[in-house]
Amino acid sequence: MRTKIVAGNWKMNNDLDASKKLVKKVAKKVKGKKLKNTRVIVAPTFVSLERVSKKASGTPVEVAAQNMHFEKSGAFTGEISADMLKSVGVEIVILGHSERREYFGETDALLAKKVDTALANKMEVIFCFGEVLEDRKSDKHFDVVESQIKNGLFHLEAKAWKNIVLAYEPVWAIGTGETASPEQAQEMHAFIRKIVADKYSAELADDVTILYGGSCKPGNAKEIFSKKDVDGGLIGGAALNADDFEAIIDAI
Ligand code: PGA
Repeated sequence: MRTKIVAGNWKMNNDLDASKKLVKKVAKKVKGKKLKNTRVIVAPTFVSLERVSKKASGTPVEVAAQNMHFEKSGAFTGEISADMLKSVGVEIVILGHSERREYFGETDALLAKKVDTALANKMEVIFCFGEVLEDRKSDKHFDVVESQIKNGLFHLEAKAWKNIVLAYEPVWAIGTGETASPEQAQEMHAFIRKIVADKYSAELADDVTILYGGSCKPGNAKEIFSKKDVDGGLIGGAALNADDFEAIIDAI
């Protein structure tokens, strides 16, 4: 059975104090739940990672970084390496978020390198991709998603995929209040599973967790998560509020 995941991407929100408070609240809420086959992850900013990861340890909440550099160390001002993340107890990293692609020029080729570094360091990758509105309007969304997955991940050997989680995030739905309909999400997730099956195998495709992200909220999560190829969500805005995040976890 595929693992389900609800992951909160806090983006550039919450200072250290707010991060500690939020993870404490989330951990308290999650502790009382019987989470069947479901993981809960939070991704604070780099400066809060160590403390949040300490607070989360011994609870069911896992902690991820929002980004990472592909080099081991060196003259890369402002960057963070896999070793550094691991030294503060973080073994999951979000890569390829549309904000990284759009505002920081991260390309498929760069992301492929980051994926390799993360996997070489035995880290787990939540790999994000998704089309912009023009792509969808011009009916190019399947091609765009296929090429992002191909260029970022299809160089990997099958066995590496046990540490890959996919996150389909249509850019037009991120932070806009506009969500993909459950049918649009299902259609894309089924397509993603098919291209992974064609490249690797039906078993591998069946095992890979595919998250939906983009204005996922307590009010729409249940319907989206009810679709058979949607295995959870990558949550932005709604993850900043412990009650909303809890409601989304409950929806799964
Ligand atoms: P949102 O962000 O839930 O605020 O739309 C999702 C994401 O960017 O991961």
